[in-house]
Amino acid sequence: MAQLWGGRFTKETDQLVYNFNASISFDCKFFREDIEGSIAHVVMMEKQGMITAEEKDLIVKGLISIRKDVEEGTLEISMEYEDIHSFVEANLIDRIGEAGKKLHTGRSRNDQVALDMKLYVRNQVTEVDRLLKEFLTTINKIMKENLHTYMPGFTHLQKAQPTTLAHHMGAYFEMFKRDRQRMHDIYARMNYSPLGSGALAGTTYPLDRYYSASLLGFEGPTSNSMDSVSDRDYIIEFLSALSTIMMHLSRFSEEVIIWNSNEYGFVDIDDAYSTGRSIMPQKKNPDIAELVRGKTGRVYGALVSILTTMKGLPLAYNKDMQEDKELTFDAIDTTKGCIALFNGMMSTIKFRNEQMAKSAMMGFTNATDAADYLVKKGVPFRDAHGIIGRLVLYCIDKNTSIDALSLQELKEISEVFEEDVYGEISLETCVEKRLTHGGPSSVIMKKQVEENEKYLEEGDLKNE
Ligand code: ARG
Repeated sequence: MAQLWGGRFTKETDQLVYNFNASISFDCKFFREDIEGSIAHVVMMEKQGMITAEEKDLIVKGLISIRKDVEEGTLEISMEYEDIHSFVEANLIDRIGEAGKKLHTGRSRNDQVALDMKLYVRNQVTEVDRLLKEFLTTINKIMKENLHTYMPGFTHLQKAQPTTLAHHMGAYFEMFKRDRQRMHDIYARMNYSPLGSGALAGTTYPLDRYYSASLLGFEGPTSNSMDSVSDRDYIIEFLSALSTIMMHLSRFSEEVIIWNSNEYGFVDIDDAYSTGRSIMPQKKNPDIAELVRGKTGRVYGALVSILTTMKGLPLAYNKDMQEDKELTFDAIDTTKGCIALFNGMMSTIKFRNEQMAKSAMMGFTNATDAADYLVKKGVPFRDAHGIIGRLVLYCIDKNTSIDALSLQELKEISEVFEEDVYGEISLETCVEKRLTHGGPSSVIMKKQVEENEKYLEEGDLKNE
């Protein structure tokens, strides 16, 4: 057992207590961030005359060599230490001796862990943003290729009005675009450095918090040292945004699963993204979509867990806050994996255009347009609604669609129908007439695709 605080204690800590208290098994994940933060602290201390240039060089070199050795696998992060901070510090002292003991001057593990976690989460916000951008690029490509791919639009999972695949995909584009915007918002709000806040009340050493913050790419230092070591809001915001991404992916999954069913047959999922069943050779299961839908609860769980952990904590640091890590790491890895896999599945999926158009025709999705036709010919809307209702019943009985009826059949239900009705209620007309901003007409959607392309070219998080 290697302890930093051994001096004050007389008895050996019970092994169970030690294990319960330790966090190295999971905070080893941010060894890079721990070293990055320490380097900034040391460079700042030298500028402030707290250590000599030689000491700074020794410490920085030592830290860089630890990072290199861990990355190359020649140094194993030992679970004998309580946390990653103690491991790095002890290792540094082993390597460079006395100078290493100055690393922790004017710092506490409270501001250190706050910094490490912030650096880690900030990197992950950028990473999620990048993955979302890739996914949006795939979605926009599907949109561009399917401006005239007709399909039914649904309400209550019942065919309602015709639309296009481009329009349907465009809805997902908007959702994941908002998710990306949330990443940018979180980044901007969290980008302040807690380093130099000490245990809770700052320090008497002449630290330049502005300088260390700028070395680490922060907008500036945080404003209140108690808040700095107690704030986990950015993790909650991030987990909330990840939960929203998963909610969107889960809805998308649900649609892919429905579209893949025998009854719909709208899509063919690529072999690489589905599996067969050992016992039923006819099956091709949408496993990726089902797993993504299933993993959503896990990410929600992480959000609820940290909200609950934080709700009763008095200021400032409490050990409860160590619980901010494991589930957050899991939620990040889960969400990133789901976005990447979904992107792969959607870039290889085949849409069965004919089947989708047929489904739109057979689903009376042009019933509203047929009623509008009658209204334009002078029939009051209520009456038109009744006439089309009777027409739909007639079609159900004959297992056909409105536009497949002869003019004579139409006239039997209402004299008002003329030859021009066919042009007015074809799938193409029904869609192309819908020219309101945000609607499915190919004219509108083409503009939207171009705007999306422009959006995707600008505004990467790293360049802000
Ligand atoms: N392992 C701790 C955490 O994750 C580091 C901070 C320890 N600070 C303390 N006063 N015990 O929160």
